[in-house]
Amino acid sequence: MSKRLGILISGRGSNLLAIADAIAAHRLDAEIAVVISNRLEAPGIALARERGLHAVALASKGLDREAYDHQLIDELRRSRVDLVCLAGYMRILSGHFIREFHQRILNIHPSLLPAFPGLDAQHQALEHGVKFSGCTAHFVEEGLDSGPIISQAVVPVLADDTADALSTRILEEEHRIYPEAIGLVLSGQYRIEGRRVRRNLK
Ligand code: GAR
Repeated sequence: MSKRLGILISGRGSNLLAIADAIAAHRLDAEIAVVISNRLEAPGIALARERGLHAVALASKGLDREAYDHQLIDELRRSRVDLVCLAGYMRILSGHFIREFHQRILNIHPSLLPAFPGLDAQHQALEHGVKFSGCTAHFVEEGLDSGPIISQAVVPVLADDTADALSTRILEEEHRIYPEAIGLVLSGQYRIEGRRVRRNLK
């Protein structure tokens, strides 16, 4: 039986759609059990519903981190989720949530971590003057954008780049590597040694 994904979003939802596309094209063997947005107005919620996905808007505004994460855990449990995928989820998770889904939370971040964690990673890359940036799919641990790295893709920074243009090119790579990383984790064909994620040899 396909493993069940819980996808957490805060906004646009393009990574969510890339995961849904990979499943529809049989590139990823999984089922999206629930999509949860912490922002009521997130466009990704409507997109998820258009695809016939179970999507829940659970507002986090004004709620204390632990209290909100308890609600999230309840919702994910109700949907019997095997793996939690953050897809543009712009809220830090509590230690409690991270322990609850130990090594079962993934994130996609628009930089080559550990460079430029946090907000506006593409803008940070331009400001810093790096010649290459990219994206990282990684396990989520306590500590911002800090867990073991599953995969990365490199994107050159062009001389006349704007944050928008760079973001668009990085996003294309996010859409490619994130479903692949999810597939690897669901297959169980990897091990974590220290900070290193190693693929098992076939
Ligand atoms: C993506 O670029 C994702 O990497 C980034 O937010 C965007 C969400 O787009 N996430 C972070 O910066 C997390 N630190 P999407 O809603 O279209 O998937």
